[in-house]
Amino acid sequence: MKKFLDLGLQPLANKYLTRKEIKNKKKEQFYHLEVGFDNKTKLVSILNKVPSQKMFDNSYPYRSSMSKTMTESFKKLSKKIIRVFNPKLILEIGSNDGSLVKNFNKKKVICVEPCKNLAIITKNKGFKTYAEYWNINLAKKIKSNHQKVDLIYSANTLSHIANLDSVFKSINYILSDDGILIIEDPSLLECLKRVAYDQFYNEHIYVFSLLGIKHIINKYNLELFNVEKLKTHGGSIRYFIKRASNSKIKIHNNVKKQLKVELKYKMDKFKTYSEFKNKVEKSKKQLKAIFGKVKNKNKKIIGYGSTAKSVTVLNYCNIKSETLEYFVDTTPSKTKKYMPGTHIYINKYEKKLLDDVDYIFLGAWNFKEEIFKKEKKFIRKGGKFITHIPTPRII
Ligand code: TMP
Repeated sequence: MKKFLDLGLQPLANKYLTRKEIKNKKKEQFYHLEVGFDNKTKLVSILNKVPSQKMFDNSYPYRSSMSKTMTESFKKLSKKIIRVFNPKLILEIGSNDGSLVKNFNKKKVICVEPCKNLAIITKNKGFKTYAEYWNINLAKKIKSNHQKVDLIYSANTLSHIANLDSVFKSINYILSDDGILIIEDPSLLECLKRVAYDQFYNEHIYVFSLLGIKHIINKYNLELFNVEKLKTHGGSIRYFIKRASNSKIKIHNNVKKQLKVELKYKMDKFKTYSEFKNKVEKSKKQLKAIFGKVKNKNKKIIGYGSTAKSVTVLNYCNIKSETLEYFVDTTPSKTKKYMPGTHIYINKYEKKLLDDVDYIFLGAWNFKEEIFKKEKKFIRKGGKFITHIPTPRII
C-alpha cells in the first residue's frame, strides 16, 4: 500500500459528543487519516485502521431508514431480487435498522448486524438477527442453523471491514452453488471525479473500484456478472457476483464497460491518485477561502446533514463553530450532540432554524436534490448553499 493522501489527524467520524462529554472535556480519540493505493490488488484503503469494536458498538448512530433515497433504492432492489432471483433464503450483512429486509417475508431473511442498538430493531420486528461481526465463525454458526443461503446482500458494509479475505472466505463458505452475492458501496471512480475526499474516514477502510473487487473475488472463484451505477452515497456501484462455476448466468456487457471506463481513467496507476491528492489540497484552499469571504461579510452559515463525510472536511479544513454556527439534521441519534473534533452543535432539524440563515454548507451533498426540493422557501428568500463537491463553490 503506497500512501497518496494525508487528511491529517481526525476524530472517529460517528462519535458524536453529548453535552455532558463536552462539559467534562472528554478526550476524543484521534487517528492519522492517510490513504494509499495497492498496485497489486488495485485496492484503495486508509492506512491506519481503527479496530471495528471502536466504531461499531452499541450506540452506532447511522440509520439507513432516515433517508428516502436509501429506502426507495432498497425497495426497488428488493422487487428485482424477488423477480429475477427468487431466493429461498437471503442473508444481509450489515442490516442496520432493517430498511432492506422489511421488503421481504420474515421467514426468508437472516440479518447480521454487530451494532446491538440496531440489531434489536430487526429482532423486535421478528427477523432472525445475529448481533455479531461477519466472519467465518458466524458463517459456520449460521450454516449449522439454516443451511446454505442462496442470496447474500451487503450495502455499505464490506468497505468497513479491514480483513477482506475473511469476508469473502466466509461468504464462499455459506453461499449455495448457484447462489448470488450482491454488494454495493461508494464508487472510487465517482470519488475521484468529484474530488470527494470526504468518502475517506475511519469507517470507510476501502473505497472500492471494479478493478479492486474483481481482484479480491477472483481469489475465491467468484465472478462479476453485472454492475449497476447508483446515485446513493454520492455515486455507488452495485456488484452482482456468482460462482465462476455457475455457467447458467450470462455475464452482462456492463462489466466490461465499467472496467474499460476505470482503465481509461487510469485507476490502475498510482499517478492518478497522486494527481487526486493535488486536487484535494486545492479544494481545501478554495473551501477555506469561501468560508473566510462569507464570514467577513458577517453572514450566518450553518451546516445541513451532520454526516461522517463532513467530519473529514471540517477537521481537514479546520472549520469550527466560529465559522459554521450549527448543523441541522433529522437523525435523532445525532441531534442535540456535537460534531466530533470541531464540536459544532447539531440541532434537530426544524424549518424555522433556517429563517435567519444566509448560507448553508451541504454536509449531506449526496442528497443535494432532495434538500433543494425541501428548502425551496430558503432558496426563494435568497438563501445560498456552499458545497465543496466537485469544486468548492456557492450555489
Ligand atoms: P449520509 O450521507 O451518511 O447518508 O448521511 C446523511 C445525513 O443527512 C443523515 O444524518 C440525515 C441527514 N439529512 C437531513 O438531516 N435532512 C435531509 O433532508 C437529508 C436528505 C438528510
